[in-house]
Amino acid sequence: MTKTVKEHLVKSLASGQFVSGQLLGEQLGISRTAIAKHIKVLTEIGLDIYSVTGKGYKLAQPLYLLEKEIIINLLADEANQQAAKQSDLPLIEVHSLIDSTNDYLMRRLPNQVSSGQVCLAEYQSAGRGRRGRQWISPFGSQIYLSMYWYLEQGLSGAMGLSLVTALAVSDAVKAHSNVQVQLKWPNDIYLDGVKLAGILIDLEGQALEPSHCVIGIGLNLHMPAAAGKLIEQKWTDLQSHSKVKIDRNGLSAQLISCLRKRLQQHQQVGLVPMLEEWHAHDSFLNKRVKLMTGERVTHGICRGVNNQGALLLEVDGQVKPVYGGEVSLR
Ligand code: BTN
Repeated sequence: MTKTVKEHLVKSLASGQFVSGQLLGEQLGISRTAIAKHIKVLTEIGLDIYSVTGKGYKLAQPLYLLEKEIIINLLADEANQQAAKQSDLPLIEVHSLIDSTNDYLMRRLPNQVSSGQVCLAEYQSAGRGRRGRQWISPFGSQIYLSMYWYLEQGLSGAMGLSLVTALAVSDAVKAHSNVQVQLKWPNDIYLDGVKLAGILIDLEGQALEPSHCVIGIGLNLHMPAAAGKLIEQKWTDLQSHSKVKIDRNGLSAQLISCLRKRLQQHQQVGLVPMLEEWHAHDSFLNKRVKLMTGERVTHGICRGVNNQGALLLEVDGQVKPVYGGEVSLR
């Protein structure tokens, strides 16, 4: 299916009203059978569309599509209020369909990206999670956002970036919906003990030479039932916890702004000044946990994170830094 047909169909159905197959066919100059095939593909990428004989097709929920102009205007307004230069605004791309927003920016290294550049998508056909997992990415209902960040001092400058990014997600969610999230080392965002968002950081370069980093955030806003069934881990979405209606463009702009602020702060003063805030949001602080490092299982008590962003795990009365692995409650 071409992008034009898909986009046309999505836009025609976005309001959540019935649209007949005949009308859609006339608008696009294709048969009703062809329309039915395209609708089937749209349902396969996560759109909850149903059909009623004599009425046509209808989306179960109206769609609020990402609009690059709206996001840019929101960021420009904020820059105005803070008397910041408009020329400092990041480059933003919004894609309907992409393999992975992280992969897209990584493919543009080193010359076709500028620090702070953002890629957002409505749908990812190959969304990636940590540890080689898939990130289920249904169309038009969540946030899939990646930002490129230049590391002038080399990969050593990436230390603690996942914690900084998690704080930025927390800032944006709080500012947009007044919902307070919890953080799980090194880079998960939880609500009521269940995963709300994940962070994936791709790095390229050398320890002490100019290097590159792509920070990817997947944030569940309004998970369609069919897509939710495909996710192995327990998950939640922001709309289920928020009293206000989540505005995807508004929250995307907020996320870009918060992430840039946190990354600039990290670049200038490092992780240490943010550690107190991190500990205030740390869902596992002083809890008994299980650490999985490959096949190895270690039991201990979480004692926060150190100045390098490593987890401090107390095992048999001794606190040791842990640099990788997956932590869960015992
Ligand atoms: C995880 O918790 O496993 C990390 C999930 C990261 C998902 C995001 S969605 C935007 C970006 N593009 C990807 O392919 N992955 C990240």
